[in-house]
Amino acid sequence: MQTIRDVAELRKAVEQLRKSGGRVALVPTMGALHAGHMALVAEAKRQAEHVIVSIFVNPAQFGPNEDLGSYPRREAEDSKLLELEGCAILWAPDAAAMYPQGFSTRVQVAGVSEGLDGAARPGHFDGVATVVTKLFNQVRPDLAIFGEKDFQQLAVIRRLVRDLDLGVEIVPVPTQREADGLALSSRNAYLTAEERVAARTLPRALGEAAAAIQKGGAVAEALAAARVKIEQAGFGQVDYVELRDAETLEPVDRLDRPARVLAAAKIGRTRLIDNLPVAPL
Ligand code: PAF
Repeated sequence: MQTIRDVAELRKAVEQLRKSGGRVALVPTMGALHAGHMALVAEAKRQAEHVIVSIFVNPAQFGPNEDLGSYPRREAEDSKLLELEGCAILWAPDAAAMYPQGFSTRVQVAGVSEGLDGAARPGHFDGVATVVTKLFNQVRPDLAIFGEKDFQQLAVIRRLVRDLDLGVEIVPVPTQREADGLALSSRNAYLTAEERVAARTLPRALGEAAAAIQKGGAVAEALAAARVKIEQAGFGQVDYVELRDAETLEPVDRLDRPARVLAAAKIGRTRLIDNLPVAPL
């Protein structure tokens, strides 16, 4: 596996891969790889001959009071894991390579990026859309793999690819979970032992809300009950618990199409997000 930090060098290496034929898959990450990321890599390997993984902790998607400084960085360990998986390239630019002096372009996806995390984290999805556009232009992959855990991010990227004719197939991978249901996330590492126990309430409350809605229960009541459970478990701040259209992310108050129940809440200093599918019977 080659580790590359310079765009011109990356282009040459991808050109070489393309000469041997087959599809090129990109797995964009911010590193601190866990089993959730490795499921993305496994899917990339199933779908493409050449797998490129990017690791870039993107400052543009962190708000001023968020965890950019403390976000886990473990490139040496990540690199070993990716090498073992047979990845072709680790694309690991630094901030100056990604955003050179004078950088002044921002990609903004209206609609799907508003509300939910877009409301709780202003500017976050502009940062994601901008860096993903750059990663796609740098690597020019045939396909790119994203986890469903960041469901709004997935919807934003799908819209971005359609709107800008980026010609990259977007492949979603279901959320990977711990045995007690907690979605895998690099940010789980911030949880204290006590918070980690309480954190399992987030997927449980969402599961109960999804089941109640699926059975024909009132949407508002099911969401309110989930919110209470999450608060009672010790989450200090619940940003949202909502039912949204699975594609457009528009609010849904009656289950008449595929939907998603989504939540974001803070426990201690850690903000967790999760979501589950709900479909009409
Ligand atoms: O999901 C992530 O890790 C990031 O948001 C992404 C897609 C790599 C963009 O920085």
